[in-house]
Amino acid sequence: MSSNIYILGISAYYHDSGASLIRNGEIVSSVQEERFTRVKHDASFPANSLSYILEQENIGLSDISYVAFYDKPFLKFERLLETYLAFAPRGFWTFCQSMTVWIKEKLFLRSVLEKELVKFDSDFDKTKLFFGHHHRSHAASAFFPSPFEDALVVVLDGVGEWSTATVSVGHKNKLTMIKELKFPHSLGLLYSSFTYYCGFKVNSGEYKLMGLAPYGEPIYTDLIKEKLIDLKEDGSFWLDQNYFTYCYGLAMVGKQFEDLFGQPIRRPEDENMSQFYMDIAASIQKVTEEIVEKVVSSAAKEYGQKNLCLAGGVALNCVSNGKIIEKKIFKNVWIQPASGDAGCALGVALDVWHSYLDQPRDPLKTDKMSGSYLGPEYTEKEIRESLIKSGAIFDEKPFKKIVTETAEFLSKGNAVGWFQGKMEFGPRSLGNRSILGDPRDPKTQSRLNLKIKFRESFRPFAPSILSEHVKSWFRLDCDSPYMLLVAPVDEKKRTKNVRSADLKDINHARSSVPAITHVDFSARVQTVHKETNPKFHKLISEFYALTSCPMVVNTSFNVRGEPIVLSPEDAFRCFMGTNLDVLVIGNFILKKTEQDQDLLVNYLNEFELD
Ligand SMILES: [Fe+2]
Repeated sequence: MSSNIYILGISAYYHDSGASLIRNGEIVSSVQEERFTRVKHDASFPANSLSYILEQENIGLSDISYVAFYDKPFLKFERLLETYLAFAPRGFWTFCQSMTVWIKEKLFLRSVLEKELVKFDSDFDKTKLFFGHHHRSHAASAFFPSPFEDALVVVLDGVGEWSTATVSVGHKNKLTMIKELKFPHSLGLLYSSFTYYCGFKVNSGEYKLMGLAPYGEPIYTDLIKEKLIDLKEDGSFWLDQNYFTYCYGLAMVGKQFEDLFGQPIRRPEDENMSQFYMDIAASIQKVTEEIVEKVVSSAAKEYGQKNLCLAGGVALNCVSNGKIIEKKIFKNVWIQPASGDAGCALGVALDVWHSYLDQPRDPLKTDKMSGSYLGPEYTEKEIRESLIKSGAIFDEKPFKKIVTETAEFLSKGNAVGWFQGKMEFGPRSLGNRSILGDPRDPKTQSRLNLKIKFRESFRPFAPSILSEHVKSWFRLDCDSPYMLLVAPVDEKKRTKNVRSADLKDINHARSSVPAITHVDFSARVQTVHKETNPKFHKLISEFYALTSCPMVVNTSFNVRGEPIVLSPEDAFRCFMGTNLDVLVIGNFILKKTEQDQDLLVNYLNEFELD
């Protein structure tokens, strides 16, 4: 028997399932199931994640003291039932459809979970199983690992059981919820409704809508505020359900919504993105920013807090996060990098430790996420074996040489797959499973988008910059280790100062780092720190020595619709299926031109586009 107290957190059966392990209150590992199963946003029981977690800690399920699930299924069922009754007879068929799933799987979740857990330990003690609260799990994931003794904790998402927005106050090891907004009035669902209206997939296309917004003018803001939403000064709001269909239909919006804006729902397969949808994107983005700002600033005034912690899907809206920073409403802001539902696995485990077991909390100056590098890593031996098995042609070199060569490749315009150490937890690649490029090259954006990621050309890339240089390149005076803040490129680095929102102008340089400068001169910044990622820091330092540019383009190592690569095998397949020029895994380097051309794969149709 181990003397350690282990708590396992699980998030599953909605979207983005994941598992987290904490040992005596310290975060040991966290991982999303989609990375193992290669099914994006996989919501099934995270069996692979659990196997990995137990194996790497060299323990069995019997060594775990508490298994915590991230929400309460009965409350969710109650919401579905009440929503149906409120809207009946509309939505009868949708209701029947969702009830089939609920009655089969979710309502009896305790027994479903127990059945899964018994596969890992035939004597699994059922009294170890706990059920958390969805928003509380988000809030716990934002506050407990944060660097603050005291903070305001704001969670905004689509919906959990009933809550859609909550405000809590964190003090030492205590977390108290003080305000709540309930379904169907939801900022997450409002944003998702517009995501759907613009032809993008709900729960994954929200990022695209945010990327599209700078191309438009927010001319529909007043109409949205007049007809769809009644927004109060404290940020609480009421959505007019006459315009939305998510309460009773399979779609988010319908005819009423189309009539209001005068255009149909954009078909996803439509190649052309008209100015209308860009203006819609700009308008809902502006309304979102206003709501978030009202929620946090009114709560800041009311509770006198200087620190803010954020989580929930809306916290991934880095433009809105950037505005909170810019307006200096708080002295410090910390955002949970796994702000989606996978992060609730971590939150609920920490909640058991600090709240149920009443264990003290010692905030770290940075935070307790270890850079969010909390997933699997591979030894040099494992990488070599995997590459040999895949039929790869590779060179093995000391890391110092790998860094020099990679920096040189990047400076010559090559696209590089960069795979090092532990995989990131959360939706962003932070330099361990990344595709890198040269930000100075005006062709990088469209080349990476169209030939490597197979995605829309309007989507901008993010810079990963040495933390010590951030102030001379961006108007940002805080760290952004998790790529969750958007900040303007410094005026001195701009080559022209007129905003051009024409999609045709994508390749026109706006700054000396055009590949990461959006049409409105903004960039989604990651600051890279020697302490949390020495290897990535070394690589960018080498690139800086060569080019005087202290940043690289960093995008996730995957193609559109594919989960981020987990293993060397995934990385090699993605390398051979795209126009990546170079692949670096650990101390191994592979050049595309040297590979067996028979191993090239047609990767384009392997994943369902998101
Ligand atoms: Fe959530």
